[in-house]
Amino acid sequence: SSRRFWVGGNWKMNGSLASNKELLEHFAAATPSGSAEVVIGAPAVYLNQLAQIVPHGWGVAGENCYTQSSGAFTGEVSPEMLKDVGANWVILGHSERRAIFKESDEFVAEKTARALKAGLKVSVCCGELLEEREAGETQKVVDRQLLAVVKALSEEDWENVVIAYEPVWAIGTGKVATPEQAQEVHQAIRQFLAKNVSQAVADNTRIVYGGSVNPKNCVELGQKPDVDGFLVGGASLKPDFVDITKARD
Ligand code: G3H
Repeated sequence: SSRRFWVGGNWKMNGSLASNKELLEHFAAATPSGSAEVVIGAPAVYLNQLAQIVPHGWGVAGENCYTQSSGAFTGEVSPEMLKDVGANWVILGHSERRAIFKESDEFVAEKTARALKAGLKVSVCCGELLEEREAGETQKVVDRQLLAVVKALSEEDWENVVIAYEPVWAIGTGKVATPEQAQEVHQAIRQFLAKNVSQAVADNTRIVYGGSVNPKNCVELGQKPDVDGFLVGGASLKPDFVDITKARD
């Protein structure tokens, strides 16, 4: 397909000036230039550092942002601020933000729209809990999360969006979805986009998988036709993350 493979690292709340520098030096030394688009997400305080030392061609992502440009919102970071310190992406709606910080589908959608307006690209996350999967509600949950985003965006906005499907039961657990499980949901998401946005957006939007992706399981997952890349947590904090960026090469 015409969809360029996309691999994001999500460092979550990890790192330090010293450890970031060391890890990025490892990445650079591993001749990282495969065919994939690669983006590293890190805590906002480190984005300026990352923007200066990520391997050539790699992007930098915030892991959250607010809906306003500036003002009396103590502790928040605006999309414009992420851009100002050198980020070109932001990860929004991660399951940890939904679960721990009680972010609603509508809030995630509003942030997505605002970040796009500010000129950031967005990796918007969706995915079901274990009990939702066991109740046969996976697609219902994912559709509900994505319908809020569809309502908040214009058709042109989708050019700058990557959907990350991350089943919550697979995040940080070592229990990776099977390639068949991932493919089934990704294909359904693509059908959802065709029905609710347009066939062109369905054909062109990258849908990436997240949840216990590692250098060993990434190649098989990446062969599935609707798996257009990965959002990688724990394994993005290790030097061989570079191998995951080359899963399709
Ligand atoms: O955003 C990344 C996901 O939460 C996956 O995390 O690779 O550590 O399972 P993980």
